[in-house]
Amino acid sequence: MSRIFSGIQPSGEITIGNYLGAIRNWVRLIDEHDSIFCVVDQHAITVEYEIAELPKKIFDAAATNIAAGLDPAKCALFVQSRVPEHTELAWYFNTVTPMGDLGRMTQFKEKSKQHRENINVGLFGYPVLQAADILLYKADRVPVGEDQVQHIELARDIARKFNARFGPIFPEPQVILSPTPRIMGLDGQAKMSKSMKNYIGVLEEPASIRSKLAVALTDENRKRRTDPGNPDICNIFTLHKSLSSPEEIDRVNVECRRAGIGCVDCKKILADNMIRELDPIREKFRELERRPDEVHDVLEKGAARCRTIAAATMDEVRRAMGLR
Ligand code: TYM
Repeated sequence: MSRIFSGIQPSGEITIGNYLGAIRNWVRLIDEHDSIFCVVDQHAITVEYEIAELPKKIFDAAATNIAAGLDPAKCALFVQSRVPEHTELAWYFNTVTPMGDLGRMTQFKEKSKQHRENINVGLFGYPVLQAADILLYKADRVPVGEDQVQHIELARDIARKFNARFGPIFPEPQVILSPTPRIMGLDGQAKMSKSMKNYIGVLEEPASIRSKLAVALTDENRKRRTDPGNPDICNIFTLHKSLSSPEEIDRVNVECRRAGIGCVDCKKILADNMIRELDPIREKFRELERRPDEVHDVLEKGAARCRTIAAATMDEVRRAMGLR
């Protein structure tokens, strides 16, 4: 059985971009893979954050993932800082990672622009820690959204360089993309993300979902209700493709092109379907909030399992590197 590993930052509300681009795909994959998922708190601290809020964000990220379908009986879910080997392996990987490769990372360039006052070494080395997350467990598949592909390619390069220097220890992990690997923000301008405030949260209430969708960008060329629209360039249609039934998608596609349906009605169908998908997740999350010990228990069991795998890998790594 091949092993998958993926991670999510506890840096705020989990968005439908995270859900449609990654989490929903993880849920589909857990039956056929040995699966490990991680709340990557050590990545989240590479930008400014509120210390007092972090524990709740970590809890919420874990509980949202469980509520969204990561059944703890079928996978390991844990918090990165509970397994110290991640940072140890990252340090060793630093020694085989050229600085030039890190400087080319799109996410580093974007975050450096957003956080000019704190471009720290942790932010620069972020992808090295990500490579360590994956390779510590010798995972061969990494299900992510499109924005993470460059980081996984770098993880592959790091594995190759390490193996060439110290012996064949690590697999070269491959990306598994979800069917909707890039969800745009509601303004249609950039990728949906917490930091851009262009998102719908997985736990958002129906009224808030409806009002956000009501003002979301559609096909900009469609000025009047009687103008035909072009679903191919409409962000709302992309969301339909990930949330509506094949019949509804067909209908919207045909009717939009001949102005048979307006944006208001099209968005209403989408809102109904989104709310139907997210309602049970929010309810399950509220239940878990009332039983926090259950979530902590899942995370502790996950970390215990991961520590065993991590210890074995690090034993091999230290030996191979002459660190004995
Ligand atoms: P993060 O926390 O930004 O996002 C978690 C997952 O959600 C996906 N995603 C999206 N997919 C489609 N459209 C969007 N708008 C969208 N926004 C987010 C991301 O691609 C990701 O799969 N560096 C990672 C976390 C990480 C990790 C790892 C991932 C740390 N170590 C090891 C995989 C393996 C990150 O910042 O994800």
